[in-house]
Amino acid sequence: MKIAVTGKGGTGKTTIAFHLSRIYAKKNLNVIAVDADSSLNLASYFGHEDQKPISSIRKLVDKRARISDVLVNLNPDVHDLIDEYSAPIAENLKLLLLGGVNKAGTGCLCPENSLLRALMQELVLQRNEIVILDMEAGLEIMSRGTLRGIDAILVVTEPNLGSISVTKKLLEFSKELGIKNSYVIANKVDEEQLGYLSKSFDVFHALPFSPAVQKSSMDTKSEPESDGFQKSLGELADKLLKNIK
Ligand SMILES: Nc1ncnc2c1ncn2[C@@H]1O[C@H](COP(=O)(O)OP(=O)(O)OP(=O)(O)O)[C@@H](O)[C@H]1O
Ligand SMILES: [Mg+2]
Repeated sequence: MKIAVTGKGGTGKTTIAFHLSRIYAKKNLNVIAVDADSSLNLASYFGHEDQKPISSIRKLVDKRARISDVLVNLNPDVHDLIDEYSAPIAENLKLLLLGGVNKAGTGCLCPENSLLRALMQELVLQRNEIVILDMEAGLEIMSRGTLRGIDAILVVTEPNLGSISVTKKLLEFSKELGIKNSYVIANKVDEEQLGYLSKSFDVFHALPFSPAVQKSSMDTKSEPESDGFQKSLGELADKLLKNIK
């Protein structure tokens, strides 16, 4: 199962990617959690701020994806990199940091992007683990071929106009790209707020606001408390497995 977590900034993408990864690993499923956000949010949630993202390892980028000063290898061999550069976090759970992706629209054919695209492709199309990608925003770094291998995108939404507008755009975009399932996840909502969001789109799952989650983002070393959020996320994890398998 390959899942990309998207949505407007601050909606809870990393929080959801972090907890889902742990939930699946605890179910004895092999998981690779992937930080595809240049600010390396997910790495810090796992307490791995010092792990180097692949795109920042200059020697590796040059060796695999640069042919000369002006020529980029558009089809770099990356088959060994995921095992070599992912860090073990817990039983069944590995963390891979991809790092900075150049923004879409810049048309950059730089070696970093070439390497990241190839790694995304490898993760989505070749690996047998559950892959959970914490995306920076959009899905532009993935080629159409890679996107076809994504089983679902989660579009994380909060009850406000800005988030609703970004969610609508992401849903349209994923439809154009032919993504199999786009699931809206309402985060930090109560019943009334869920009703408000449901006027704009079908909500696949709703997660409540959790003081414990907010607190745990200040101190990632502590084990998050079990509460309504964890329970609801467990239900989401099961729903995804059921819908996608
Ligand atoms: N259900 C929740 N209840 C309470 N706080 C939450 C909940 N979900 C996320 N948060 C808090 O909201 C903040 C933003 O969450 P997070 O970092 O996961 O968002 P993000 O979408 O990854 O942000 P960015 O776009 O900056 O990467 C964090 O402080 C997090 O603890
Ligand atoms: Mg984040």
